Amino acid sequence: MATPKVIHPQINDYLPNTFEDLKDIKNRPDEWKIEQGLSGAQLPFIDQTGKEPIAIHPSKPAVPTKDDDAIKAVGDPNELFQMERPGWKGYVEWEAYPEKKKQGHKILTSQNFPPNPEFQMGPIPDTNPVLPGTHWKMWHHALGGELTDVPEDSWKTVLKEKHPEMLHLLQFPYNGEPPKRLVTDKAITPNSLHFVRNHGGIPLIDQDKFSFTMDGLVKNPTEFTLADLMDESRFPRVEKYVTIQCSGTRRIEQISLYPGQGDEVPQAPWAEGAIGTAKYVGISLKKVIKACGGLINGGKHLEFYGADTYFKDNEVMNYLVSVPWSKVKANEVLLAWEMNGEPLPAIHGYPLRVVVLGYIGARSVKWLYRIKAIENPTLAPVQSKEYLYFNQQIGKFNQSPVDGIQIQEMPVSSAIMSPWTKQVIIHNGKINCKGWAYSGGGRWPERVELSADGGFSWYAVPLENLSEKRKWTWRTWSFDLPCDVEGWVEIVCRCWDNSLNTQPLTVRAAWNWGLHVTSSAHRISVYSVNKTRAKTAEKLKKFAETGSPLAPLTWPEEFPNITWDAYKKFWAENEPRDVDE
Ligand code: MTE
Repeated sequence: MATPKVIHPQINDYLPNTFEDLKDIKNRPDEWKIEQGLSGAQLPFIDQTGKEPIAIHPSKPAVPTKDDDAIKAVGDPNELFQMERPGWKGYVEWEAYPEKKKQGHKILTSQNFPPNPEFQMGPIPDTNPVLPGTHWKMWHHALGGELTDVPEDSWKTVLKEKHPEMLHLLQFPYNGEPPKRLVTDKAITPNSLHFVRNHGGIPLIDQDKFSFTMDGLVKNPTEFTLADLMDESRFPRVEKYVTIQCSGTRRIEQISLYPGQGDEVPQAPWAEGAIGTAKYVGISLKKVIKACGGLINGGKHLEFYGADTYFKDNEVMNYLVSVPWSKVKANEVLLAWEMNGEPLPAIHGYPLRVVVLGYIGARSVKWLYRIKAIENPTLAPVQSKEYLYFNQQIGKFNQSPVDGIQIQEMPVSSAIMSPWTKQVIIHNGKINCKGWAYSGGGRWPERVELSADGGFSWYAVPLENLSEKRKWTWRTWSFDLPCDVEGWVEIVCRCWDNSLNTQPLTVRAAWNWGLHVTSSAHRISVYSVNKTRAKTAEKLKKFAETGSPLAPLTWPEEFPNITWDAYKKFWAENEPRDVDE
């Protein structure tokens, strides 16, 4: 076998760099990592229930299989799963055709797909896109027909509509957020930087061919075009600033503590950017229901249908969720076609989306094509099997959907966008911090507090440093946090909303198996280099004078702090370290 390539001759000379050298080493090279919990996915389970403990090693990936005959017998995908309506590229209707759902299920269960890459118990790949969404691409391709091009078309839309600096957490279905420095750069998030959370592909819909249906338990089921909805003589126009937040925001903190269950899509490793604020223009859904003669026969919930295709447990469906009538009645549910003065971008639901004020983002359905009035909350999986907040002690082998609270209003939360954890900050006694604060359900941030000592003492951010107060939006903030320390400090941020709710202090306190709603106070560790200290200032001057490199922090200090003469003088003038009896 060839000798591994020498990259740094000087360093490599000291390494066991031939396989010959390694022949007597018996353990696997990553063993110490496994033992130290740095590579948890490789760690065997230990079954202690028998006489002797048994190690159960991670399964080998199943070899993909495919029953071509069974798949062929289902029929021609181009006919089965064809475009539902002209001008609606990528839209397959599932909900109206139970037979078609069965055919999709048959195709999916007639083959095996390779397992997802492990990222929660191993290192998260350092690529952008971070995760590829291989399963989801494969499922779309496996069904074929109108879904064939959806993964590729969706990625093209991402590249066209989103900022080049977006962090693509998941390529397909697309999940992306802005980098930290751009999350709160503006109190109103530019469209290209607004986070995106998709469960399926992006349908590309012609506005001219668009209409949506309101039916179910309403007196007069009606179809509306966009022009109908925009007709101000029928529907008063509503303009609202709204923050949409995904319940996955800041999930990375929960993953870093303990992983949970889930494949790439429900468990995308969101940072603090799965939240954004925009001005939406549209109408109140209440008026549309009124135009349909109102609810009848016990209609109490509104089920929203999105034109994208969603996969769950080998079942195929459209994206469906519901909200209660009480929310609609309060004029807190909008049908919107404009975002920050522009038509909705395709990626955000063009031509029409729901915007539910103060609820988890999952209820704000994009690419809306139908609203059905129903008696009870929808049983559709996005509502009934996902976005559940489990008790901490419910683990993989115990949980059932009825154990989870359906997440609806997001609790009060906040995050520090600058500086970043492990960053070295050189300052004059104050560290400038920036971030956001938000509370769901129509509550708003009243006070943002920061601590430079891990949460023992708190400074309130002055009101003039907070962005405008509104009922349905976040507030961005900036603050010069007093910090006398030289060395590591833990900066913590928390918010108090107008109901005096505040945040739990640790991630563990609110950690949950579904890894949703990371509402704990946001903590970052930074290294404070405090120039108001004479010695620090002197040292920095020396680095500057000699042109010496300051970074990285872990390099040994270049200039001694004390001369031998001064050292000896100190001990001459002071007691020795050890004491004579
Ligand atoms: N609507 C449809 N049709 N499909 C989706 O995948 N995702 C929901 C919601 N509406 C989704 C959807 C979720 S979970 C969130 S957080 C918001 O859209 C995100 O909205 P945005 O992508 O416009 O930021």
